[in-house]
Amino acid sequence: MVDMQTQYLGLTLKNPVIIGASNLVQDLGTVKKLEAAGAAAIVYKSLFEEQIQLESLKMHEDMHEYNERHAEMISLFPRLEHSGPKEHLLHLQQVKESVGIPVIASLNAIYHESWEEYAILLEKHGADALELNFYAVPDSMDKAGTDIEDYQVKVLDTIKKAVRIPVSVKLSPFYSNTLHLVKKMDEAGADGFVLFNRLFQPDIDLNSASYITPLHLSQETEDFKLPLRYSGLLSGNIRGGICQNTGIFSGNQVLKALLAGADCVQLVSAIYKHGISHLSVILSEIEKWMEAGGYQNITAFKGMLSRSRIKDPFIFKRAQYVDILLKSDEIFSRYPLR
Ligand SMILES: Cc1cc2nc3c(=O)[nH]c(=O)nc-3n(C[C@H](O)[C@H](O)[C@H](O)COP(=O)(O)O)c2cc1C
Repeated sequence: MVDMQTQYLGLTLKNPVIIGASNLVQDLGTVKKLEAAGAAAIVYKSLFEEQIQLESLKMHEDMHEYNERHAEMISLFPRLEHSGPKEHLLHLQQVKESVGIPVIASLNAIYHESWEEYAILLEKHGADALELNFYAVPDSMDKAGTDIEDYQVKVLDTIKKAVRIPVSVKLSPFYSNTLHLVKKMDEAGADGFVLFNRLFQPDIDLNSASYITPLHLSQETEDFKLPLRYSGLLSGNIRGGICQNTGIFSGNQVLKALLAGADCVQLVSAIYKHGISHLSVILSEIEKWMEAGGYQNITAFKGMLSRSRIKDPFIFKRAQYVDILLKSDEIFSRYPLR
């Protein structure tokens, strides 16, 4: 029997497979099944401040409309307020109480004060660690990249001072130099890096000539490669842990992440596409490969193919890109022009 334990955010995980933030936590039965199938930890879906604001606004609008028709009712309950993040927090607490594995709370706030306030609340409601979901889609031509980065580092710094539990950050890959931002956040005390969030993009429906926002899951063969490269670049160079995310569907892909230097992975699409039982398929693939290679534990091979440990670091260089593009004969033989 091989030992699949790994350390992430100061937590000992029984294996490197974490269920990433998603609606899979909605139902306690599902959460228990994920644990039984082998999940090493669960990230509870993000507490989105934006959602609370929208719900609160909707409630005030509804109340106003109701007031027009039933004035006496409102005068009986004049202080009816939206419950804010209460429901989210209580459900997080229930999830935490229903499983034995670590539960990581995720947060995406808008204002600096709310990042801090909600982080403290999530800690109070039993989260073993925090994941700051820095999901930011640029929509302003006036904001410089450095403004966005400085703000995120400041938020991280504030939260690190406000809570005792470990704090990780979930980043997008679209900073001008993601490595530099990771370095700054590492210095600010980030305990772990989730690489990367997948950004949802709108599409256009030609029939109605309008925007639509379909929920697409990750692709099975290509999407894990960008995060894989960053695991390889960062491993051995930062203090915080590395959790590779996006496009992980198989045990082989988990093994590649570990070889590059990740401490663990998070997956979501794999569960939606292949079901909860797919977790045990992934875990047994990892186990078989470790047994065949004679690896007793994960430390025996983790980071073996990181940039800091391989003999040929050119694989991470731009030259490699030019080399691929120059192999036109190989491309023609695989994709003959018609
Ligand atoms: C239905 C659904 C809900 C999600 N909810 C969240 C969320 O609340 N917070 C978050 O940080 N990411 C959320 N994500 C993104 C996932 O955590 C993950 O980063 C992304 O799906 C890429 O991983 P995958 O390729 O394994 O799916 C969600 C993804 C899906 C499909």
